[in-house]
Amino acid sequence: MKKRPIIIDTDPGIDDAIAIAIALFSEELEVKLISTVAGNVSLDKVTNNALKLLAFWGRPVPVAMGADRPLLAAPLDAGDIHGSSGMDGYDFPDPDRSNLLGEHAVNAMYRVLKESGEKITLVPIAPLTNIALLLRMYPDAKEKIEEIVLMGGSLTRGNKGVMSEFNITCDPEAARIVFESGIPVVMAPLDVGWKALVHPEDSVRIKDMGRTGEMIYALLRKYRGGGLKTGLRMYDSCAIAYLLKPELFEVEETYVAVETTGSLTAGTTVADLKGYLKQPPNTKVCTDINTGMFKDWLLSALKRCD
Ligand code: BDR
Ligand code: CA
Repeated sequence: MKKRPIIIDTDPGIDDAIAIAIALFSEELEVKLISTVAGNVSLDKVTNNALKLLAFWGRPVPVAMGADRPLLAAPLDAGDIHGSSGMDGYDFPDPDRSNLLGEHAVNAMYRVLKESGEKITLVPIAPLTNIALLLRMYPDAKEKIEEIVLMGGSLTRGNKGVMSEFNITCDPEAARIVFESGIPVVMAPLDVGWKALVHPEDSVRIKDMGRTGEMIYALLRKYRGGGLKTGLRMYDSCAIAYLLKPELFEVEETYVAVETTGSLTAGTTVADLKGYLKQPPNTKVCTDINTGMFKDWLLSALKRCD
């Protein structure tokens, strides 16, 4: 089967680790590059985590380190959600540094895009700093980007600010560059992430899915994106789910702006679903998710990981 080429831009991150697992073991996706960016924890830690995951699976996917801080905003982190390492809970093998490229993520992304005979989909599941830098440093990269399918933003309330989601709040200016780029953007916001849940009985099934299942179960026990009792939120897997099973989502095409200056609202995605701003649509927004189908999809996707 012809695989769809993607680049995952990530800050692992427990829910990132699960999304990466599903993408790497999917028969429909080819992960050409994993680029890392400071977000959930520092750049060194998230890069180490990406390398640890690849060592765990013995997969030679190239990894490139990107931005160690946002463009303008003061750095934030989410160590309270993912643990101080960013992926607390499992005793991983040492990271395999042979997967680490010597070039900066922005240069690596550009090279991979230019060398590819076909367009590539970017899948950012982290602050958008690397993607914004790519678009500013190499404007012709656009021609080789199929679409940008990202986890980030919110249609309602936030998880970092009152109205703002973590990935966008970390680097609002970068997010603005991405949404204003003219490249087709798909946004999987908090509103679907909040419904993409793993419950205790699911985590027990995951634990019995072999070594990857055991590893993910150990991470889930430490992850505080929700609580294991009420359901853990698989935010980043929503972006992968959209790639592999878009029928899980209700999608509306609309104009999305990013608030960068509001003293209370910086990092808010303003999704103009009612058309007040009279702007042409720039984003396909996932407005709802079929929770039962998502759960079935997630569990069967994880079962394929080993
Ligand atoms: C996003 O923030 C991070 O903590 C998660 O990994 C996800 O990408 C959810 O707001
Ligand atoms: Ca993430």
